Amino acid sequence: MPHRITLIPGDGIGPEVASAVVRIIEASGVEIEWEEHIAGQAALDKYGKTLPDELIESIQRNKVGLKGPITTPVGKGFTSVNVGLRKALDLYANLRPIRALPNIPCRNPGLDLVVVRENTESLYSGIEHEVVPGVVESLKIITEKASTRIARFAFTYARSEERKKITALHKANIMKMSDGLFLRCFEEVGKLYPETERQSMIIDNASMQLVMRPEQFDILLCENLYGDIVSDLCAGLIGGLGLVPGANIGEKGAVFEAVHGSAPDIAGMGIANPTALLQSAILMLNHIEERAAAEKIETAMLKVFEAGKVRTRDIGGTATTNEFADAIISQIT
Ligand code: NAI
Repeated sequence: MPHRITLIPGDGIGPEVASAVVRIIEASGVEIEWEEHIAGQAALDKYGKTLPDELIESIQRNKVGLKGPITTPVGKGFTSVNVGLRKALDLYANLRPIRALPNIPCRNPGLDLVVVRENTESLYSGIEHEVVPGVVESLKIITEKASTRIARFAFTYARSEERKKITALHKANIMKMSDGLFLRCFEEVGKLYPETERQSMIIDNASMQLVMRPEQFDILLCENLYGDIVSDLCAGLIGGLGLVPGANIGEKGAVFEAVHGSAPDIAGMGIANPTALLQSAILMLNHIEERAAAEKIETAMLKVFEAGKVRTRDIGGTATTNEFADAIISQIT
């Protein structure tokens, strides 16, 4: 039986990297029936909604989605489809493995850490209002329920992946109630996982430590906004946004997507790096227990990086998206 998976190619470079990744997955021999859906501006034009019911229902039915980036207009315009999707499906945990790849020029070769980000609340609650003209207020929501749930996810993940330490990032010196609660839940849950070392660090110091000595970290546990910012910083340590994968995981489903956005500056040029979405797809194949296919693709990808001949421009090469995908396909055995 083929797997049925929801595919959202997305905006900007999304369709370019998504089609390259689908070709690579197909070359691995795994049987997948893709249910393709649109979101964002294209869906607004067609259905009058940025997040069509058909799309939500498709992921609810299939339990798995692979998603390209979706543009969110700054200031005016529609609210984030990404945030809406995570909320609608309660994809509460965002996992971003930051692993340096062979032969990529970067600040921190050999770095291997994971950002676990709470995906449903904090300032991403999107609750904003104008108090009086010229004064606006954004509400940072932190709940015991969500903080406990994400801490449990991080400790369970550490146990299953044999990772040794979790560092919770916070600003509880200033946001004593909200970040204080997040931190307390982390400490409480951590007591149930004595084999995992736990540490907490104020986010500003952690940012400096990440630039100067990132190898001291193993898993970083963050509320939503800190996780968003810190994971881009971490992507920069290992060669950029074109490389880092992500998974949004909930009790009822999972959506796999790159950390990067729709990269309007290079959209349509055929030069985007598909590695981030490809690595997200590898996480997805492991999630659906297609471990052999995941390993085949990962081995082929690593061979291409080790050889160092075919690389996209963001990491110092000249290859197009499709040339890079073809190089990987040629290494799949
Ligand atoms: P971005 O990640 O799209 O781009 C930042 C920089 O990284 C750009 O210079 C871009 O060319 C480069 N870059 C990103 N991905 C790349 C790739 N695969 N290959 C080569 N270079 C790559 O971030 P930006 O410009 O802040 O956001 C653009 C749009 O994407 C916004 O509308 C934003 O809301 C949206 N976005 C969507 C996300 C999602 O759907 N999950 C996540 C982040 C942003």
